[in-house]
Amino acid sequence: MIQAYQKCCQERVDSVLTRVLQAKQPKLARLYEAMYYSVMNGGKRVRPLLAYAACEAVGGAMAQADAAASAIELIHAYSLVHDDLPAMDDDDLRRGKPTTHIAYDEACAILAGDGLQSLAFEVLSSAEFNPCQAQTRLNMVLQLAQAAGPNGMVGGQAIDLGSVGKHLTPSDLEHMHRHKTGALICAATYLGALASEKASRQQLESLHAYSQHIGLAFQVQDDILDVITDTSTLGKRQGSDIEHNKPTYPALMGLDNAKEYAQELKQQAISAITRDDLNAAHLIDLAEYIVNRNH
Ligand code: IPE
Ligand code: IPE
Ligand code: MG
Ligand code: MG
Ligand code: MG
Repeated sequence: MIQAYQKCCQERVDSVLTRVLQAKQPKLARLYEAMYYSVMNGGKRVRPLLAYAACEAVGGAMAQADAAASAIELIHAYSLVHDDLPAMDDDDLRRGKPTTHIAYDEACAILAGDGLQSLAFEVLSSAEFNPCQAQTRLNMVLQLAQAAGPNGMVGGQAIDLGSVGKHLTPSDLEHMHRHKTGALICAATYLGALASEKASRQQLESLHAYSQHIGLAFQVQDDILDVITDTSTLGKRQGSDIEHNKPTYPALMGLDNAKEYAQELKQQAISAITRDDLNAAHLIDLAEYIVNRNH
């Protein structure tokens, strides 16, 4: 069932992304090509799925969440382009293809990432893409800016880079993961629910608790996959974290404990949204998918 839902969400978000990534001037063809390459290259679209599923969970229609889903994926794609740069994780493979700075060049990859970030806020704030009321759009922009910025994903990436080769305590590692990965996952869920324009405070709180658990679980599973999944299945180099001496959950607590922890977090996520006023079936399927995926 998750495959059919995934396909439907992927088609929706990809159609918006294709529209956004059309070059506006011939002189910018290479920049747009690099942005397109970085986005339309086989991502799982987990964050858009969360946005759509959260919108539906509170009774919204999928179309209402198109802008939220696309904006989050643009930020995510930008974060990956920069994450792979030589100055950061120095990876040459992403989604089974050369990373953007390898396929193009470093300057182009930096600019493509910058461009994707700006496009995300354009999509979210403009009435052309986002049918929500102006006040809702403004709130969505604020939430995404906070999740993506120095107190969210960018802050987490800074902590990640500053932690290479260091021994982190469990609470330091959790703090890092909640920022670098959890923040965007929380924003995806929250923005999706906001897009419905009818989520109650209690519903938002439950969805937030769900996304906090599943956001951490997502990065725990990402750390696990770096150890157990081969490069061709993963689409990125197996063992990259180990090679770069990154602090990860398997390194901190061992592989089996990390697997158990991911399952525990999933259970907590599902418990948070098990309530009568949420149509949570897709969110529950997504929680299962996030901790049981193989890439
Ligand atoms: C990878 O994210 C980077 C992390 C935040 C762990 P995904 O596993 O969602 O990557 P894609 O988008 O499917 O390639
Ligand atoms: C990336 O974490 C998180 C962000 C891009 C914000 P990782 O460095 O673990 O992601 P992968 O494993 O390269 O996809
Ligand atoms: Mg990284
Ligand atoms: Mg990386
Ligand atoms: Mg990783």
